[in-house]
Amino acid sequence: MAGATLSDVCDWLVVGGTGQVGGALLRLLGPRAISAGRSPANPCLVDLEQLAEEPGQADRLMAEARPRTVVIAAAATNVDRCESEPAMANAVNATAPAALARAAHRIGAKTVFVSTEYVFDGEAGPYDEDAEPRPLSVYGSSKAAGEQAVLSADPDAIVVRTTVVYGPERQGRNFAYRLAGHLRAGKVLRVPSDQISTPTYNRDLATALVQLAQSSLRGIVHVAGPCLLGRDGFAVEVAREAGLDGTLIESVKTASLSQVARRPLRAGLISRRANEWGSHPVRGTAAAVADWRGDTYGLTWP
Ligand SMILES: NC(=O)c1ccc[n+]([C@@H]2O[C@H](COP(=O)([O-])OP(=O)(O)OC[C@H]3O[C@@H](n4cnc5c(N)ncnc54)[C@H](OP(=O)(O)O)[C@@H]3O)[C@@H](O)[C@H]2O)c1
Repeated sequence: MAGATLSDVCDWLVVGGTGQVGGALLRLLGPRAISAGRSPANPCLVDLEQLAEEPGQADRLMAEARPRTVVIAAAATNVDRCESEPAMANAVNATAPAALARAAHRIGAKTVFVSTEYVFDGEAGPYDEDAEPRPLSVYGSSKAAGEQAVLSADPDAIVVRTTVVYGPERQGRNFAYRLAGHLRAGKVLRVPSDQISTPTYNRDLATALVQLAQSSLRGIVHVAGPCLLGRDGFAVEVAREAGLDGTLIESVKTASLSQVARRPLRAGLISRRANEWGSHPVRGTAAAVADWRGDTYGLTWP
């Protein structure tokens, strides 16, 4: 960690700032935020797998950074890898977030834990906040455990579930970049038609996260896009807005993709509480892509 000057600038501590969601937050918050994570790109170095073993690291992190708000956007997000590494998934996605939330609570900071629609089984989506989690995968169950552990550690925390996040990103890893890479190269991309969800533009998610963190809301809140789409339908929309050849998108069934972890199929999130409260709405694909096209933050627009 960089030392005493951190607390002068750090209203917000973003754990996982090198990721897509954390990166969108850091961009929005500018100098008010610092990032914690395991790569040297982070001013605050912390490996959540180790922190899960030694929770005192969370107290040391809070003592040094003195944030008012802690956003836990770091997670083991490789859904298939989690399946074969459940101990790692639970440490990173549940034990460590709970330790961070507990340490944040001790210094009076608000915790926002970013979670996922993969806590649901995809039998009856789209889901609002009252729906009962029933995860199908190790990733989903580790995130569901993380939600409960964070809320036990700090009942004032907010758990923001989101899904299929896309938009400008320095690492260029989200689905839209992969789609564009394939179509640009004239390669067919097989995309599941039966994974139905509500794709979420990352810049709007970041704005909503910041607003919700400053609200008096606590507990579970969904923040997702307004349109319920199969992954193939979403791909077609992105391709159309980007002027790419959508005929290279091949709709397939999830079963044919041989994915290791089971995915919730009829999923998607209803942002009931966020809408009632009046947080920044998440735009649909066309408006999101129009915003993204004029953006120079991520890699070149697909
Ligand atoms: N992207 C989506 O479509 C989506 C959908 C629903 C929910 N979410 C949720 O949103 C949150 C953010 O996702 P994202 O898309 O931003 O993920 P991401 O791009 O994969 O980034 C994950 C972040 O977690 C960090 N991380 C992973 N393991 C770590 C460890 N052991 N110690 C410290 N940091 C570690 C990564 O750091 P390194 O760079 O060092 O690996 C990276 O900063 C997650 O909680 C995820 O469950 C995302």
